[in-house]
Amino acid sequence: MREIRTVGIVGTGTMGTGIATNLAQHGIAVRLFDVRPEQAKSAVAQAQAFWARSVERGRLSAEAAAAAATRLAVVGSLAELAACDLVIEAIFEDFTLKARLFEELSGLVPEDALVATNTSCLRVSDLARHMRRPERFLGLHYFSPAQINPIVEVVRGEATAAETIAAALAFCRATGKKPITCKDSYGFAINRFFCPYTNEACRLLDEGLATTAEIDAVAEEAVGAAAGPFRVQNLIKPRINLHAIRNLAPLGPFYAPARSLIEVGEADRSFEIGEAGEIPPERRARIRDRLRMGVFVAVLQELDEEVAAPADIDLGAREALRFSKPPCALMDELGGAEVERIVRPALERYGLARPAALDRVGRLSS
Ligand SMILES: NC(=O)c1ccc[n+]([C@@H]2O[C@H](COP(=O)([O-])OP(=O)(O)OC[C@H]3O[C@@H](n4cnc5c(N)ncnc54)[C@H](O)[C@@H]3O)[C@@H](O)[C@H]2O)c1
Repeated sequence: MREIRTVGIVGTGTMGTGIATNLAQHGIAVRLFDVRPEQAKSAVAQAQAFWARSVERGRLSAEAAAAAATRLAVVGSLAELAACDLVIEAIFEDFTLKARLFEELSGLVPEDALVATNTSCLRVSDLARHMRRPERFLGLHYFSPAQINPIVEVVRGEATAAETIAAALAFCRATGKKPITCKDSYGFAINRFFCPYTNEACRLLDEGLATTAEIDAVAEEAVGAAAGPFRVQNLIKPRINLHAIRNLAPLGPFYAPARSLIEVGEADRSFEIGEAGEIPPERRARIRDRLRMGVFVAVLQELDEEVAAPADIDLGAREALRFSKPPCALMDELGGAEVERIVRPALERYGLARPAALDRVGRLSS
């Protein structure tokens, strides 16, 4: 497998810019291509502004910032990515656009180069059908902001070779990331439970059981969240979260978006968050259980489906979502009987089979 020294980034919007910033800072030569050339130039300017701030804050030396800047180059055509060892696609989330791009890239990059998609919602295996060498194709799902967030989901498509995954894991580690391997499954490892968690918060609101502020206030106790589900949704935009949840629809009604999320998301608004005040203990316990239920049902199901290993799920929860009580460790701490009590209402309400992983609670993270 060739060493990854030069990486092409196609699509230099939010994600492409963040990924390029991270890579150049870690010694990788980066070639930036965007259909809008001004967007690629803006990516370079944004990376430089980020490094300047890092220098000001004492997180990066002026020499390292200057060296990183020399590693970024804007190119005017896809053909100029022909010498890249890895190409990461971060264009609009549109299957036809991405498929067309991969067909073109297939004829350009060297036989043994890797090609990755940063897709959040499309199936890696479906996109791989548009590659001449699907065994060299995989998902590299970075989290926003990619120049800071340490987690990358390394997604194994049906045709992805084991050596491709091994090379991608080594590459992520060498560029300062903490990679998580996962199956090509809806929501991969992290959104699979993050979406139901935020959705359950919205259902509590829809059922008139708590206010947004109360739910946010209990999230710390429930899962150790640094910020509550409504504050976080307002940061990522309810519209984007709604899109991510809708992607999970094939997994069944447990994953169907809540009424308030559809309303706020479709109107492209933010959730209003007032003051929490004193929360009666009974209401506090109900909110805590429901937030945990959203996370636990999804995590137990993904463990049954072997989407990702418990240690990787917990790593993602801790590092990408800032949950100080990551799900598998938390379930182990609570014990099988308590976890069963928490998830039982959801299993009954949505007609779900009892997850087999429930029997392993207590030793999930060992
Ligand atoms: N924004 C996030 O938080 C996030 C997180 C993880 C993954 N993703 C995924 O990453 C991808 C990019 O998302 P984004 O938020 O950076 O989008 P964005 O809209 O900010 O940027 C997309 C860029 O791609 C360019 N582009 C479109 N078609 C192109 C083509 N054919 N060739 C070259 N450039 C092209 C556009 O000009 C634009 O600059 C999507 O697949 C998205 O689902 C996004």
